[in-house]
Amino acid sequence: MERRKKIYLGTNTKMYKTTEQTVAFLKRLNELTQDISRDRMELFVIPSYTTLTAARESVPRESILLGAQNMGWEEQGQFTGEISPLMLREAGMDIVMVGHSERRHVFRETDAEENKKVLCALQHAFRPLLCVGETAEEKDFGIAEEVLRTQLKVGFHGVTPEQAKTVWVAYEPVWAIGVNGVPASKEYADHIHKVIRDTLAERFGAEIGGDIPVLYGGSVNPQNAEGLIRMPYIDGLFIGRSAWDADNFNSIIRTVLPLFEEKRKKEAAV
Ligand code: PGA
Repeated sequence: MERRKKIYLGTNTKMYKTTEQTVAFLKRLNELTQDISRDRMELFVIPSYTTLTAARESVPRESILLGAQNMGWEEQGQFTGEISPLMLREAGMDIVMVGHSERRHVFRETDAEENKKVLCALQHAFRPLLCVGETAEEKDFGIAEEVLRTQLKVGFHGVTPEQAKTVWVAYEPVWAIGVNGVPASKEYADHIHKVIRDTLAERFGAEIGGDIPVLYGGSVNPQNAEGLIRMPYIDGLFIGRSAWDADNFNSIIRTVLPLFEEKRKKEAAV
């Protein structure tokens, strides 16, 4: 459980924040979290495309990893409106988010397309952050687990165990995301995280599959962050609205970090 000893905390700023706002946010977040060793946490921000170069120049990658919200799966070509891995490499990105629920549901991306993006991101030495999650309807039909297993099995198709060592997964139930979202209970989230963990272990073996960080996202806020992070299978939080103000994000970080470390210490003692 080497990688999962650290907490993973990040935010996706979606289609919010201009370059100026993104840079100000990153600088403030960096300043506020300077005293926290990055051996204890992996802190990352996923801003919008046009801000990426300035964002990378504004804070060191040793403090805050940056990622893109999406990526085309070819290096170049006749794909109007797409951004290629070469462009993201040039912008200095480390992470590529794949399959955020808004990509899947608003822009109708399929599991097979997410798989192409995961493979392409790996080929270009990015860390793919694969997002998975069931809709409210799928949950009501009692097929959440099957849906997640499918998203994971297709998403990771063709990925070698060696490559899997660089992937992160975020569980973001569609019904929990955004202004109309209802946060998942910590018990439900943890149960699903275990399903994800088991699926990854089945696919890549207990050691590698067991080491892939799985983050929870969907209406995380200062009230529920504490309960979520105490759950055994939750390795980090992927936060939207509640993290878009650097001071608020910092206060969530300071609440959850000691709780996470206490959890891991207790686990190591048994
Ligand atoms: P939210 O967004 O925290 O605002 O619900 C989460 C996400 O979309 O990653």
